[in-house]
Amino acid sequence: MALLFEPVTQRGVTFRNRTVVAPMCQYSARDGLANDWHLVHLGRFALGGFGMVMVEATGVTPEGRISWADVGLWNDAQVEALRPVTRFLGSQNTVSAIQLAHAGRKASTPVDWRRDLPAASESEQREAGFEHWQPVAPSAVVHAADNPDFQQPHALTREEIAGVVRAFADAARRADAAGFDMVEVHAAHGYLINQFLSPIANKRDDEYGGSRENRMRLVLEVTEAVRATLPQDKPVWVRISASDNAPGGWDVEDSVALARELKALGVDAIDCSSGGFAEGRIAPSPGYQVPFAHAIKTEAGIATAAVGLLHDAQRAEAIVAQGEADFIALARGALDDPNWPVHARHQLEGEADDFALWPVQAAARMRDRARVLARVG
Ligand SMILES: Cc1cc2nc3c(=O)[nH]c(=O)nc-3n(C[C@H](O)[C@H](O)[C@H](O)COP(=O)(O)O)c2cc1C
Repeated sequence: MALLFEPVTQRGVTFRNRTVVAPMCQYSARDGLANDWHLVHLGRFALGGFGMVMVEATGVTPEGRISWADVGLWNDAQVEALRPVTRFLGSQNTVSAIQLAHAGRKASTPVDWRRDLPAASESEQREAGFEHWQPVAPSAVVHAADNPDFQQPHALTREEIAGVVRAFADAARRADAAGFDMVEVHAAHGYLINQFLSPIANKRDDEYGGSRENRMRLVLEVTEAVRATLPQDKPVWVRISASDNAPGGWDVEDSVALARELKALGVDAIDCSSGGFAEGRIAPSPGYQVPFAHAIKTEAGIATAAVGLLHDAQRAEAIVAQGEADFIALARGALDDPNWPVHARHQLEGEADDFALWPVQAAARMRDRARVLARVG
């Protein structure tokens, strides 16, 4: 069998294969509550054969949401709202994961398709669930001074930082209660934890700023708290921006050092993305972030997920087979083809494919169809 479709186990969780749906914000929740949209959007990837499906960046506090329409996990009603998602993914033998997030100074930004709301009537805003607030950050430095979508943040006090750590742990407890098999800490894309990591956004002069060791303090505290909260048989991943791709910013060498620390805390995999600061520049192309996953896997000795234009099945298989990464994550490739795993497996295995990755309701019929097509050419 193609290595991409070999099962793999982390702690008490077995992934039926190494294909993963990367977290994708839908900006479709009200009051942080997941709804039918999230169930169907995520559920179709389970039907398509993905080994794991991760729920979008989920606010651990209301002010930690990227927008007013993000999913959240700061109250128990939000636990109930996510239960149908974990139940359905589990029923399809797909690992359910959720990305726990705090947007920091990139919070309270507009939802692209509701840019009319800030100027709408109060009743219209209430109807849609619109909210607007001042974001928080390591330092009172705006994300992009020339972009009105971003606001001047409030610099977190030490007590408030401790509150953020508690909020991540509380959200991890709720994720467990909602039935998730694992969680991912979002430390990438220029959001709060990444803001602490990077000298671009972190101008603090206390124990959370200055040296790399100090800038890593928040992510290590959050991860330790999440790990301590989640049952031991449930994996914890951390998504990082392996490089800010900006002069004077965080780089791969920093990421390797961080990955070693995270491994020591019991983290099961590093999900290797990049970028997120206005100052960063990188030209995406197929597999452009794989070198990050490869460097971290080999130099820190920890499992990695690769992401970024990885829709080519042969290339995805080669990445796993050559030991560049352990998991292949797709975001837009999964939107484009929610059945990507069943198609990729067929492409890689040809006649040896037994169609077992299809849901039972479809497998035999798809096998018949392939036989007929093979006969008629
Ligand atoms: C619609 C959409 C929403 C996204 N939301 C998130 C998110 O919630 N958390 C995150 O870490 N990355 C997010 N990303 C980034 C993806 O997870 C992924 O890293 C990126 O799109 C590159 O993979 P791709 O080329 O397969 O799309 C999002 C991407 C898309 C397209």
